[in-house]
Amino acid sequence: MRKITYQELRKMWFDFYQSHEHQIIPSWSLVPENDGSVLFTTAGMQPLVPFLLGEKHPAGKRLCDIQKCVRTGDIDEVGDNSHLTFFEMMGNWSLGDYFKKEKVAWSYDFLTNPKYLGLDKNRIAVTAFAGDEVAPRDTEVVEYWKQVGIPEERIFYLPKSENWWQLATGTGPCGPDSEMFFDTGKPACSPSCNPSCDCGKYVEIGNDVYMQYVIHQKDGEAVPAKQRNVDTGMGLERLLCFVNGYQTVYESEIFAPAIQIVAADCQKSYAENLKAFRVLVEHTRAATMILSDGVLPSATGQGYVLRRLIRRAVRMANQLECSRDVYVKIIQFYREFFQGIYQIDENITKNYLDEVDKFSKTIEQGIREFNKILPYLKDKTLSGKTAFRLYETYGFPIELTQELATEHGLTVNMEEFEIAKTKHSELSHTASAGTFKGGLADTSEETAYLHTATHLLLAGLKKLLGKGVVQKGSNITPERLCFGFNCDHKLTADEIVFLENFVNDAIQKQIPVTYKEMSLTEAREIGAEGSFANKYGERVKVYSIGDVSTEICGGPHANNTADLVSFKIKKEESSSAGIRRIKAVIKK
Ligand code: ALA
Repeated sequence: MRKITYQELRKMWFDFYQSHEHQIIPSWSLVPENDGSVLFTTAGMQPLVPFLLGEKHPAGKRLCDIQKCVRTGDIDEVGDNSHLTFFEMMGNWSLGDYFKKEKVAWSYDFLTNPKYLGLDKNRIAVTAFAGDEVAPRDTEVVEYWKQVGIPEERIFYLPKSENWWQLATGTGPCGPDSEMFFDTGKPACSPSCNPSCDCGKYVEIGNDVYMQYVIHQKDGEAVPAKQRNVDTGMGLERLLCFVNGYQTVYESEIFAPAIQIVAADCQKSYAENLKAFRVLVEHTRAATMILSDGVLPSATGQGYVLRRLIRRAVRMANQLECSRDVYVKIIQFYREFFQGIYQIDENITKNYLDEVDKFSKTIEQGIREFNKILPYLKDKTLSGKTAFRLYETYGFPIELTQELATEHGLTVNMEEFEIAKTKHSELSHTASAGTFKGGLADTSEETAYLHTATHLLLAGLKKLLGKGVVQKGSNITPERLCFGFNCDHKLTADEIVFLENFVNDAIQKQIPVTYKEMSLTEAREIGAEGSFANKYGERVKVYSIGDVSTEICGGPHANNTADLVSFKIKKEESSSAGIRRIKAVIKK
């Protein structure tokens, strides 16, 4: 079988879509900008939501990229052959340009043409949306699949659960999709065997989403969108594994050397410790990428997910009796592996190790607490409530409690533990549900207006604190903006009033908000703000609010500052060392 390297696959993707007049755009950060609806970028389409809804993209209507993504919904599955928390998604887009006919022809060509993946034409199977009360059966896409040569018996209509794509937030652009599979040649598991079953006959290789609908608010209905788009997603790691004929992603060059590093460090057999080796490597890779996008371990939000990944990795390393050096070596491997693709600074190793050390202290403390409890145990059972308290208060992993219990001839009441945990997670789920609604996926007018308010606020901060002020994170929900900036002190009441007056003045002046497209160099020349400028590629949009503000930005924005009516700062607080953040609202 033909071998394809990671770099070759990347290049192949870009070459193919460039040959069809697509512009390459860079991967965005794993931390969504201006979007409070999700913690991480989970799909290539997420940063493109405004453009899928009709905002003009500076790089044009045909785009392709390879976007880094994090999904932790299936974290417990990591360690099997293919589940990953960090992965790269190869994507291409039509923003109101070509549609099903071209997309089917290109997908088929990329998969089967010997110049590209060169897969056996007779083994490709595809699925299409079966239709429901919202959207019709996708006979159109099936017609095009037939035209390129896929026979009817390898085309499957499946229901919404399988062939409809939308963001986990439940809002934003969405639509029927058509997935592509490779038939491994295994016999069908039953007469109704189809690509959606888990029998292993079909391997998924990609997904073409036809985003011609939009859901405006949570629990809302999908309604036809004003623009018809294509969103393609192909998981790079899985595809690389598949085209090279590997059984698991860990055999590919993306993971195999890191597995070797662990084996050399702990001198244990990989075959006998598959899960521990894989989780250690996979989570350390994911944590490396999240750290390199500026997140630090903490008790909430992105930082909490990062903390969990590192702590799970540490547990596996401890189980394998690895040295502390193992993390340093794995991180170094990925720094080199991604050189020229992603910037991974050296200091992230220190940040990673700090968390490893903190966790070691937690474990020590947990053991002390455990030993304190021991004399009070009446029978040979540790109650689930106590186990949960160790877990919740000290972050002491339940597996360790179980191990310690076994050492002392005790058992843990796991049933009780699970009940306590479920109760707790239901409570915290309700509490966090608030953060998961809204965001730019809503693209409500509110978010556009708050986006404009954010530009005005930054201009005000520059007036107040000097030109050195830059944006350090921004997050918008339909209710409020939250804007981070570098500043070495807590803002005084007078400073807050100054900022409010500055923004309200601009609102009163009823200034039109306009934009121009230009090259990045031109944007720099006219002094446009924008520390994350390169995410749109070479061409950028520069939004101006009279002579108050000039910023490189994708939009969307208000048409006029008057739309904002008035501006009020609700909170000013520390975000991390040297960074403050402001939460503010507008009244329409
Ligand atoms: N957005 C689609 C996905 O993530 C392509 O599968």
